[in-house]
Amino acid sequence: MARIIALSNQKGGVGKTTSAINLGAALAAIGRRVLLVDIDPQASLTDALGIDASQLVQSIYDVLLGTVPLRTILQSRFQLTVAPATIDLAAAEMQLISEVGRERILADVLASVTSAFDEILIDCPPSLGLLTVNALTAADAVLIPVECHYMALRGLTQLVQSIEKIQRRANPRLTILGVLPTMYDPRTLHEQEVLGELQKLFPGKVFPPIRRSIRFAETALAGKSMLVYDPTHVGAQAYRDLATEVLRG
Ligand SMILES: Nc1ncnc2c1ncn2[C@@H]1O[C@H](COP(=O)(O)OP(=O)(O)O)[C@@H](O)[C@H]1O
Ligand SMILES: [Mg+2]
Repeated sequence: MARIIALSNQKGGVGKTTSAINLGAALAAIGRRVLLVDIDPQASLTDALGIDASQLVQSIYDVLLGTVPLRTILQSRFQLTVAPATIDLAAAEMQLISEVGRERILADVLASVTSAFDEILIDCPPSLGLLTVNALTAADAVLIPVECHYMALRGLTQLVQSIEKIQRRANPRLTILGVLPTMYDPRTLHEQEVLGELQKLFPGKVFPPIRRSIRFAETALAGKSMLVYDPTHVGAQAYRDLATEVLRG
């Protein structure tokens, strides 16, 4: 049975998509069967893996609306399986609002493939709306990518409150896998301080930071993970180390 991990943070540009792709690639490289699920209407994960969302006839949008089964939209990219998103998904939040059990739609959808994968990573949109609620309801664990800036800490309180609400009301098995500092620059005192704050707020739950590198932006343009694009890069190694820690539990 697959473990389902949601990468979530209502702030945009904190490394959710990059971490979903690279953690997924690192898990796949150790032989895990990995499914990446894009539930962001911006379809960044889909795009960063070289899938042209504008050419897709069906996507996770159609699956959430119950029009097609999940298996029919899955695509293979390198060692990964991808459930792509399209801009249509922006409308899904409105369309699903009147559905019975609207928080559990993604959980139901993923139940059909949990025996086919070992790890399912859900790349969440930058909001705490219905799509993110669906991800957190479906997930066993949430991984929270954060930038080491003071403002980022403030948003975390709200995210943790949402997680606790979902634990109480919909998904008691949801745990916080950890906080992943991204785009970290150890030369900045401010970032060192914020990292220290994170460690106080989430004792034992802060993964070693992923360093800032412009090379990550290049990988998205190339449509590949860092592990495929530049396997010897420190960023690739950082995500391999993260995968080892995530597997250790
Ligand atoms: N470690 C990193 N160093 C530098 N840039 C990064 C790093 N991780 C991600 N990025 C870049 O930052 C931007 C936002 O990252 P992304 O993963 O799309 O965040 P989110 O999914 O949270 O919006 C992207 O352009 C991405 O290439
Ligand atoms: Mg994203």
